[in-house]
Amino acid sequence: MDNQIQLDLEDRLRRLNEIGVALSSVRDLNVLLERILKEARRFTHAEAGTLYLVSGPHLTFEIAQNDKLQIFIGGTHEKVDIPPVPLNKDSVSGYVAVTGETLNIEDVYAEEGRQFEGPSNYDQMTGYRTRSMLVVPMRDHEDQILGVLQLINAYASESNESIPFSSEDESLLESLASQAAVAISNMRLVQETEALFESFVQVMATAIDERSPYTGGHIRRVAELTMAMAHAVNASKTGYFSEIEFDEEELEELRLAAWMHDIGKITTPEWVVDKPTKLTTLFDRIELLRMRFALIRKEFELQIACGELEPEEGQRRIKEVDGEFEFIAQANLPGEFMADADLEYLEKIAAKTFVLNGEEQNYLTVNELENLSIRKGSLTDAERQKINDHASMSIKMLEQIPFTRKLKQVPAIAGAHHEKLDGTGYPQGLQGDEISLQARILALVDIFESLTADDRPYRTESLTRELVLQILQDMVDANHIDREVHEVFKSANLFDKLEDLKAQMARESAKD
Ligand SMILES: [Fe+2]
Ligand SMILES: [Fe+2]
Repeated sequence: MDNQIQLDLEDRLRRLNEIGVALSSVRDLNVLLERILKEARRFTHAEAGTLYLVSGPHLTFEIAQNDKLQIFIGGTHEKVDIPPVPLNKDSVSGYVAVTGETLNIEDVYAEEGRQFEGPSNYDQMTGYRTRSMLVVPMRDHEDQILGVLQLINAYASESNESIPFSSEDESLLESLASQAAVAISNMRLVQETEALFESFVQVMATAIDERSPYTGGHIRRVAELTMAMAHAVNASKTGYFSEIEFDEEELEELRLAAWMHDIGKITTPEWVVDKPTKLTTLFDRIELLRMRFALIRKEFELQIACGELEPEEGQRRIKEVDGEFEFIAQANLPGEFMADADLEYLEKIAAKTFVLNGEEQNYLTVNELENLSIRKGSLTDAERQKINDHASMSIKMLEQIPFTRKLKQVPAIAGAHHEKLDGTGYPQGLQGDEISLQARILALVDIFESLTADDRPYRTESLTRELVLQILQDMVDANHIDREVHEVFKSANLFDKLEDLKAQMARESAKD
């Protein structure tokens, strides 16, 4: 081999290597495919080329480039609907995909014994003249043919004339095509893994949301509104957030954190999730009390009947018992606030005794009194704690997922959605700067979504926009939520976005 050819070959091998490295760093399939074809053409001095991928019983047309006609289709350029090529030996590309053989054709029109319609059709349509052609299979590391690279019209660099592809072109292109196939295969693997994880995340979110009829769809709404907020932060070119721009990876990290923020709720006991009345455990214990008070009443009736009680006094006590049960039934319902006088009355009732099977008992057990005495809502402190545990559980669970470096903040962001700037939040009582901007956004959206939920166990009407805004403003003033994030919230028109989203979700569930 003369020296020049030797040098040229070495140079091409070095470039081939560089291309391999470059291909493995591309993250977008369209960009990757375009790059493969471009490099393949540059490498072999080909004027035009097409890249096909195998898809079921077809080869789909992905990229076409033609310098002479200035045609660039697919990849980062516009896609054109071109019918797929059947996987059989009738076409050049089909032939290569089926047989795995490389075709190096000097002149497609002079090819003996083989008729390929593709090139002549193309030439007729475009006025182009296809002459030499080099078509190689893209074979990955498992020997699977993923596609076909078809290069057209090599030209001599000196004369610019169309020449045949050389045998060096052939072998170099074969290795380039293999490297490309491996890159495509890797990218698909990554995409499949991501899709798998994504569907897992959504299944978990659905499972959690399904546990409560009151909060159904909460997670998806929080996730989508959080992203709307993040984009609004990115869009704000003046003021506090003018310097801040979440990049693609940070956005993805935040999106996943939002989808998984309540993942810890999977461990919250069923009956506390939406405890409908104060006495509910696995069932509403008011039914037990109804029977007990009926029994106490019966006892008074008996005492009247056998003369142990004056009828008048007896009737008074019966009326009293009826009133006490009615009061308890009322107190069992979760309220907004219970007055001191009501609590005292409850204690008085609880302290009364009656005799059952010869044993003296209180009207109410300690636990019943504790539950009925809940001032606000329906949860005891211990139950409230169980609910709040979901945030630390989210952190614990998410920390067990081996997130990639770019997603490593997911557990911290997700786990901080109940933290407050003044340090009174949970589970870690983080303060101020300890709470990331992402977590502040998530926290605000989480509160906003909850406030606008259509109903809750103890709320019959949804709150007005004005009231929601007032509550959020109060939380800003109390240093619970971030003032600047709140400003973005107000200008980003989240109410309308939420309404659109709810309508869309309703349409989707009507379809199911
Ligand atoms: Fe939460
Ligand atoms: Fe939440």
